[in-house]
Amino acid sequence: MIKSVETNRLLLRELVADDFEDVFQIKSDEKVVKYLTWGPSNREHTLNSLLKQIGFQSEENRKIYVLAVELKSIRKVIGNALFMVRDDDFEIAEIGYFINSNFWKRGYGEEIVYALLDLGFRQFRMHRIYATCDTENFGSINLLKKNGFRLEGHFIKDLKVRGEWRDNYLFALLKEEFDKIL
Ligand SMILES: CC(C)(COP(=O)(O)OP(=O)(O)OC[C@H]1O[C@@H](n2cnc3c(N)ncnc32)[C@H](O)[C@@H]1OP(=O)(O)O)[C@@H](O)C(=O)NCCC(=O)NCCS
Repeated sequence: MIKSVETNRLLLRELVADDFEDVFQIKSDEKVVKYLTWGPSNREHTLNSLLKQIGFQSEENRKIYVLAVELKSIRKVIGNALFMVRDDDFEIAEIGYFINSNFWKRGYGEEIVYALLDLGFRQFRMHRIYATCDTENFGSINLLKKNGFRLEGHFIKDLKVRGEWRDNYLFALLKEEFDKIL
């Protein structure tokens, strides 16, 4: 289990089975999964993946953290935040995130990315954190740039999204860069 991470309005915490309805609302939404390789998810798929993700919490040398993003004022889960360790020394991680579309464009994405950086660089002492996103996913591109990420790569047609090969950007941030923008 991790210590939860708090921002002004959000609490990033471990998922629990009771989060199912909130998570299903998000993962079954076509708008949310537009640039993602999976979904929209049905109830069965959502439940299976939720239980699998809860299972990760008790793994030794855990590498995958799928966290609930709770809006503190209404105690609702409005998104998921992903933190995935990508090397055996626990120094490089990839992040991901998605938010209930009723809550877009209110700065929550920016808060989630900052919270993931806080978790990665301050709690876990990572060296490098990266994220990939579709080259037309302007919401994701903007919030990564606003949190100081650098564009490092443009991959041509390397991700298949519902039968269509899509271009992807790779954004990254190093610990030393994060320390400078504090
Ligand atoms: C990407 C996503 C997390 C953005 O969340 P959000 O809470 O709406 O983002 P924020 O409100 O923090 O916005 C951050 C910046 O991006 C801009 N932005 C957000 N959505 C945008 C969009 N669709 N187009 C252009 N700019 C956008 C905001 O205006 C803001 O910039 P500003 O402060 O200069 O105005 C959300 O759209 C989402 O969940 N999308 C579906 C899942 C997904 O694609 N995840 C990323 C996979 S790589």
